[in-house]
Amino acid sequence: MSQSPQVDPAKLAAAKAAVALVEDGMRLGLGTGSTASVMVRELAARVQAEGLSLRCAATSRATAELAESLGLRIESLDDIGWLDMTIDGADEVDPDLHLIKGGGAAHLREKIVAAASDRMVVIADPGKVVETLGAFPLPVEVLEFGFETTRKLIRRALEGLELGEHDILQRLKGSDPVVTDEGNLILDLHLEVIPDPSGLARALSCIPGVVEHGLFLGMCDLAIIGREDGSVIEL
Ligand code: 5RP
Repeated sequence: MSQSPQVDPAKLAAAKAAVALVEDGMRLGLGTGSTASVMVRELAARVQAEGLSLRCAATSRATAELAESLGLRIESLDDIGWLDMTIDGADEVDPDLHLIKGGGAAHLREKIVAAASDRMVVIADPGKVVETLGAFPLPVEVLEFGFETTRKLIRRALEGLELGEHDILQRLKGSDPVVTDEGNLILDLHLEVIPDPSGLARALSCIPGVVEHGLFLGMCDLAIIGREDGSVIEL
């Protein structure tokens, strides 16, 4: 259950600070990604040491498998109904706590889980903090049906927002398409900068083949940024 010796101290500091917010009896959402995995390990250690009774929903199959392998019981979101807190990572966090997520292709489930939580706590290392979102390619989960048509419609939407010409690349693992837990595909929008995240979010949500985009606007309540020296700052 202990952390691997190579664990990033900044991620560990953020994860520990978030797990310290967990109280006995809480209903928790568990995020996805390397930082969230560190958090799941810390959480499992606390549960074992203190005998906490928690109800947990996972944002991906990978997180569910990790959590269960560490002795945490995972229930479906619908069985739990509502969550007190979700702890998740992020690819970018801006000063308004707007996020880009989906680097792990799990943003659809992550967004559903965060939306069903009283509080979303993001844990990250300092490299994730940005002034303006967009350097990290924006993940968009799309249906396989009409995939190229959806890509065209996204391109047209970007032109309408005067975002200009940008690469919209299918995410691959090796030479195979990345397929999400829901059986969909991922397009990464290489925008460099997103001057109007709300406008872009609205435009993407109107495109029929788009299942969900990785902009999390107004969802994050607290970002805990870990530092190499083990300290954290809260945004
Ligand atoms: C997965 C996510 C992750 O939370 C995000 O990619 C951050 O991952 P990591 O902690 O590995 O940097 O959104 O879909």
